[in-house]
Amino acid sequence: MSSSDLLQQIRTGGEIPRHVAIIMDGNGRWAKQRSRPRTFGHRAGMRAVREVVEAAADAGVEVLTLYAFSQENWGRPPAEVSALMALLELYVRREREDLRGKGVEVHMIGEVGRLAPRTRRAMESLVDHTAGGQRLRLNLAISYGSRTEIVNAARRLAERVLDGTLVPGEIDEELFGQQLYTASDPDPDLLIRTSGEMRISNFMLWQLAYSEIHVTPVLWPDFTREHLFGAIRDFQRRERRFGRVLAS
Ligand code: FPP
Repeated sequence: MSSSDLLQQIRTGGEIPRHVAIIMDGNGRWAKQRSRPRTFGHRAGMRAVREVVEAAADAGVEVLTLYAFSQENWGRPPAEVSALMALLELYVRREREDLRGKGVEVHMIGEVGRLAPRTRRAMESLVDHTAGGQRLRLNLAISYGSRTEIVNAARRLAERVLDGTLVPGEIDEELFGQQLYTASDPDPDLLIRTSGEMRISNFMLWQLAYSEIHVTPVLWPDFTREHLFGAIRDFQRRERRFGRVLAS
């Protein structure tokens, strides 16, 4: 089925997920299959990012969160880390005008203080340049680790208790969620993971509590707009219960 037919199908087939989060996995294997270095796979992964951002906006998704670089990824060989950082900078240079033109507002989630100053400046310039975009919010998770995000939230609340501006009984799920990077976003309705791995990998542990999970064997560089629309179609066929029993 063509991508425009698929798009038509999901537009009429049910609710469009407001927030889609993606664990982009499989760049290394994609490169290995072609006897090329892992960084070749990451470059191809950048092309998939471009396509999927556009497709998410076309589908009417409000928020797209992409896991671009985890805290654990700092432990990869230095040459691969540098290549990934260079790729992020290249992404900013290549895509900034296009993202702004398409109404995509970019945000960064993660420990951006760990980035090299040049990469950080590039990413911040992208955030500034796209501020106000109305069509899609794109969260790029960079140097992101969900446990750290949660610990930082707990620490901030503890500090407020210490300085007397909060009493422990006032801490509830809503207040806690407001301390996270995603404070102003709805929780992801749909999590997609490519390359067939059945893991969450320290990604949005709090926010994914009720998300539908779609795992596909497709390696990230091969992931296209058709795959995104297919995942949304799959989502629309599911019955979301949020732990309740639905009346039949
Ligand atoms: C996982 O594949 C992918 C990453 C660690 C990096 C993701 C980066 C990109 C898709 C490109 C740049 C991103 C942006 C936002 C421009 P892997 O290396 O773990 O693959 P493997 O499991 O097959 O080894």
